[in-house]
Amino acid sequence: MMISYRLMQSRDVAGVFKVDQACFSHNWTEDSYQAETKNILSNYIVAEVDGEIIGFGGFWQVLDEAHITNIAVRETYRQTGVGQRIMNAMLALALEKGCVGMTLEVRGDNQPAINFYLKNKFTREGRRKDYYGTGMDGIIMWRYGLE
Ligand SMILES: CC(C)(COP(=O)(O)OP(=O)(O)OC[C@H]1O[C@@H](n2cnc3c(N)ncnc32)[C@H](O)[C@@H]1OP(=O)(O)O)[C@@H](O)C(=O)NCCC(=O)NCCS
Repeated sequence: MMISYRLMQSRDVAGVFKVDQACFSHNWTEDSYQAETKNILSNYIVAEVDGEIIGFGGFWQVLDEAHITNIAVRETYRQTGVGQRIMNAMLALALEKGCVGMTLEVRGDNQPAINFYLKNKFTREGRRKDYYGTGMDGIIMWRYGLE
């Protein structure tokens, strides 16, 4: 199985939207992903197999900080290193663009994702109460230094 990792283009939006729908309970619209392809702050990596998007990850560059918007891998491809390769590509891109840190919010009960970020040298730095709805706090994580 040959998986390629590359920057998202406009033609990938439908596939990225499908992955979003399959992976998240709070969904972005297809239009919002389309807008991301035109947003100069946005940087998205897609993972593709035989023309199908199976995962993606993105961040907004805000000055010298990279803010992760979303990262997701289709369930059947999880725990095989796809998310890690997307993260590696995002870290390399953020570093190349002059970022010195990366941050994100993750649901407090999303243990697979929290483990994923801890493995990638992110640490818990704060909490946003009810960020994902009543009783669902957002954990703020940061990675300082991208090298
Ligand atoms: C988080 C996510 C992107 C990880 O993608 P993935 O392709 O499964 O990750 P990888 O196979 O590259 O795993 C890398 C590391 O993450 C951690 N990890 C990944 N899935 C895990 C799980 N289910 N339980 C515990 N740790 C996990 C492990 O440390 C793993 O390293 P290891 O294989 O050496 O143990 C994926 O679980 C996903 O799409 N989840 C749904 C969407 C989501 O919650 N996104 C995050 C929103 S903030």
